[in-house]
Amino acid sequence: MTTSTLNVFVAGGTSGINLAIAESFAQAGANVGVLSRDGEKVHAAVERLGALNGQRAAGWPADVREFEPVKAALSGFHARFGAIDVLISGAAGNFRAPALGMSPNGFRTVIDIDLIGTFHVLYGAHEFLRKPGASIINISASQAYVPMMMQSHVCAAKAGIDMLTRTLAMEWAGDGIRINSIAPGPVSDTEGMVRLAPTPQAAKELTDIVPLGRWARKDEIAAVAQFLASPASAMVTGQVIPVDGGLNLGRYSP
Ligand code: HXC
Repeated sequence: MTTSTLNVFVAGGTSGINLAIAESFAQAGANVGVLSRDGEKVHAAVERLGALNGQRAAGWPADVREFEPVKAALSGFHARFGAIDVLISGAAGNFRAPALGMSPNGFRTVIDIDLIGTFHVLYGAHEFLRKPGASIINISASQAYVPMMMQSHVCAAKAGIDMLTRTLAMEWAGDGIRINSIAPGPVSDTEGMVRLAPTPQAAKELTDIVPLGRWARKDEIAAVAQFLASPASAMVTGQVIPVDGGLNLGRYSP
């Protein structure tokens, strides 16, 4: 990084894991921009982030499924703060349903938000990224490599994101841009877990498959984002980093 004040843009940064990541950068003194489709959530997040970093937060209501508003938000951030040092793409959608229990449009909706949305964010941001030095962090999930029933749409979308991470890490390495994925398992106090574990029994099942025996806290995901944004990870690119208490290992015993 060539500046002491980081410019951090978080797509989907108005709730859950993404907001926790945005807050961690605001607390560290970064200029922070967020984007999500709900204008009220954008307003609330900007207030919250601005209180942490001396009112150097900004937000744009935009749906990542549409490229032009995403591009306009990234351009607006660049005009206000300058080159983007850290870009986080985390907008996501999820619901529990078997493949035969959703319409083709239901499947497409999650692919559009998660995978196409991530492409829109990275593609639209490229010209505004600091070169060399920018770090891109895509938010994946355990579903990218652990097949889960009721999650075919999410598994396919997140696996696609991780291959985007790996291919663009190669294509953009020449610009001095690093790209990695964080793949959280279950994370407490998030919309995703409300959707995935709507009953105590479902919550217990999603705890039992975690070798460390608990769900992550949002700050434990943000800590890995801090690492991936820092010079400490200068030689890490194209990697998918599970932050899942070992869920990806598979907990099989005879
Ligand atoms: C079957 C469903 C469904 C369900 C929606 N659909 N919910 N199908 N079962 N429970 C179908 C609809 O019928 C419709 O298809 C299509 O999906 C689009 O639905 P809409 O409601 O019109 O779309 P939209 O308003 O854009 O909502 C998108 C959404 C919604 C993904 C469906 O859930 C959402 O907005 N989610 C955002 C918040 C969120 O999910 N956060 C959690 C992310 S966590 P038809 O054919 O009827 O038109 C995460 C990772 C978790 O992703 C990892 C944990 C380990």
